[in-house]
Amino acid sequence: MNANVYLPQLARIAHIKDEVGGARAIKTFRVEFLDGGGFEHECGQCAMISVFGKGESMISIASAPSIKDYKQFSIMRVGRVTAAIHDMQVGDVIGVRGPYGNRFPVADWKGRNLTFIGGGCGLAPIWPVIQTAVANRGDFGNITVFYGGRTSRDILYRAELEKLRGMADVHLSVDSPEEGWEGYCGFVPANIMDKPQSPENAIAITCGPPIMIKYVIGNLSAMGFADEQIYTTIENKMKCGVGKCGRCNVGKDYVCVKGPVYSWAELKGLPQEY
Ligand SMILES: Cc1cc2nc3c(=O)[nH]c(=O)nc-3n(C[C@H](O)[C@H](O)[C@H](O)COP(=O)(O)OP(=O)(O)OC[C@H]3O[C@@H](n4cnc5c(N)ncnc54)[C@H](O)[C@@H]3O)c2cc1C
Ligand code: FES
Repeated sequence: MNANVYLPQLARIAHIKDEVGGARAIKTFRVEFLDGGGFEHECGQCAMISVFGKGESMISIASAPSIKDYKQFSIMRVGRVTAAIHDMQVGDVIGVRGPYGNRFPVADWKGRNLTFIGGGCGLAPIWPVIQTAVANRGDFGNITVFYGGRTSRDILYRAELEKLRGMADVHLSVDSPEEGWEGYCGFVPANIMDKPQSPENAIAITCGPPIMIKYVIGNLSAMGFADEQIYTTIENKMKCGVGKCGRCNVGKDYVCVKGPVYSWAELKGLPQEY
């Protein structure tokens, strides 16, 4: 661990994949640490990515903890830092500090049915959990993945999701009818109501736009999921990432330290500042 908590490690961009185009494009970056650097992480944790001269952004680590050679980040172009990293090339060097935040309690979920519900860029934080569950397939019951994009061109990890079929039930959706689309047409919360999940021995993990999460949680509750069976992440804006600046607070919680992973039971006990 660096003595200065704000000092990033250097990492080289080893691979860039264009995932989604348009004004809010998403690219997936694989980065390899320089000079034998690096760190271990757990599912749900994040890292502060810096583009020198531009600034820093908190980004979910989208690769499974079992992958040691690189870390993967899927980044939506929304502003200064994210646009700068989108303009970078393979071989360019960025800063990475972390890992930050808590984790999904995946080890506690052994033997249970897992339902993942994602939308937009919200597949990235739960992707390491999906990868870990599939890699240890015998440890879990049914694995079901719901994921939706606005159109078929907005589906993150499209090829990887197709490969999951056979090991998991995968239900993809687009918001409105589209020629040639064979999956569900409609919003993600409606897709889960179309294929209701049993709450028995189950855990549901949802991540995506706040409006999607709100309706997904409402629908899961209607299916009988208890608050303790539902997990999500919150993405309050962050600056330091280490519980010092107070930028990310929800009530008394520094989300960068106590979060970003919360059960719905825990979140309900906090003020709605997320
Ligand atoms: C725990 C956590 C995990 C995250 N994981 C990812 C990820 O995996 N991939 C990804 O693309 N993004 C992720 N984000 C969001 C990412 O940190 C911000 O989008 C990014 O910092 C924006 O930086 P910027 O300089 O490009 O934009 P800025 O120039 O700072 O802002 C551009 C616009 O985006 C808005 N904005 C900035 N930050 C946020 C935010 N956190 N939430 C909502 N709106 C924001 C601003 O208000 C402004 O309208 C995560 C955020 C958190 C807190
Ligand atoms: S981002 Fe500074 S306290 Fe959380």
